[in-house]
Amino acid sequence: MPRPIEALIHSDALAHNLARARAAAPDAKVWAVVKANAYGHGIERVFDGLRGADGFALLDLAEAERIRACGWRGPVLLLEGAFEPRDLELCSRLNLWHVVHCSAQIDWLAAHKTHTPHRVFLKLNSGMNRLGFAPAAFRAAWARVNALPQVDEISLMTHFSDADEQSESSRGIAHQVTAFEAATADLPGERSLANSAAILRHRLRSDWVRAGILCYGSAPDFPVRDIAHWGLQPTMTLRSRLIATQSLRPGDSVGYGSSFTAEAPLRIGIVACGYADGYPRHCATGTPVLVNGVRTRTIGRVSMDMVAVDLTPTRDAGIGSEVTLWGRGPHGSLLPIDEVAHSAGTIGYELMCALAARVPVHGAAIAAPA
Ligand SMILES: Cc1ncc(COP(=O)(O)O)c(C=O)c1O
Repeated sequence: MPRPIEALIHSDALAHNLARARAAAPDAKVWAVVKANAYGHGIERVFDGLRGADGFALLDLAEAERIRACGWRGPVLLLEGAFEPRDLELCSRLNLWHVVHCSAQIDWLAAHKTHTPHRVFLKLNSGMNRLGFAPAAFRAAWARVNALPQVDEISLMTHFSDADEQSESSRGIAHQVTAFEAATADLPGERSLANSAAILRHRLRSDWVRAGILCYGSAPDFPVRDIAHWGLQPTMTLRSRLIATQSLRPGDSVGYGSSFTAEAPLRIGIVACGYADGYPRHCATGTPVLVNGVRTRTIGRVSMDMVAVDLTPTRDAGIGSEVTLWGRGPHGSLLPIDEVAHSAGTIGYELMCALAARVPVHGAAIAAPA
């Protein structure tokens, strides 16, 4: 019998969350961002739930091929554009739109032989200092791209560093919006600015929004706001079962490093889930977890294949009881991934992306053609 751990992908929740993006940006077209294998969910598994999007945005060319193999004929955007000149051949063949963020990419385009002109998203570095042309260089870059016969349409984009306004150093988005407006004033073309945090928190008008994490049921500004506040639903459940129980006496400790010691008699359960499954080792004692749908806490250090949980609130739990590490539990219970991530000092993005390959994943998958 295989280990009882599994992940479930909820197509209905993906569609629901996409509808929330549309409601928050009613005048915009929506890119569903499916980079990093759809934030760990699997491109083919999310395709059905997100097929109501206006386009799919990602950055790996192999993932772009997979989206086309799902049968998607609409827009696909490469968020980092070409990594080398020959990538443009695939863009021509699969009709991929691509970001142009540096002069080298313009050189490659100028040398590219194609009968099908490309649509590009010219990226402004409005302050994040990752990718994009500096404001002073933006118009010259636009003029160069505009003169290329290989390009038939130029859209304009930028990316916010602080739309979630979470860290103490956060500068918000106003300075980046101002830089974008100044650099692009009078230039024609569609605009794309907002990621999930900007879609939900800042009602900016633009032609395309780029909805990533919100599609996957995680609040970009947790713990200030949670998914209940934004009306989002978890799209990934990680669940397993108890494989043992222990009755601790006062003074007994649990797991590696004996980091937890019982002060009173305590019944605990041992869950078939550890950091080799993608459950973070940094989760301290007290991380929320559901046993039979009832909220309780982890105890002691997470090990490679196991983690202990407090069974005090669930006296009837025993070997085989269902444990929800995050997502949807039984009887309508919920454990948002953001709460677990927060307890590990990280964000929901990282947990969903880090789901380990050894965890079997179930959910509607579109079969890729052989
Ligand atoms: C350029 C770009 N647009 C949009 C997104 C989506 O961001 P989020 O998942 O926060 O919505 C990302 C993700 O990092 C990105 O790099």
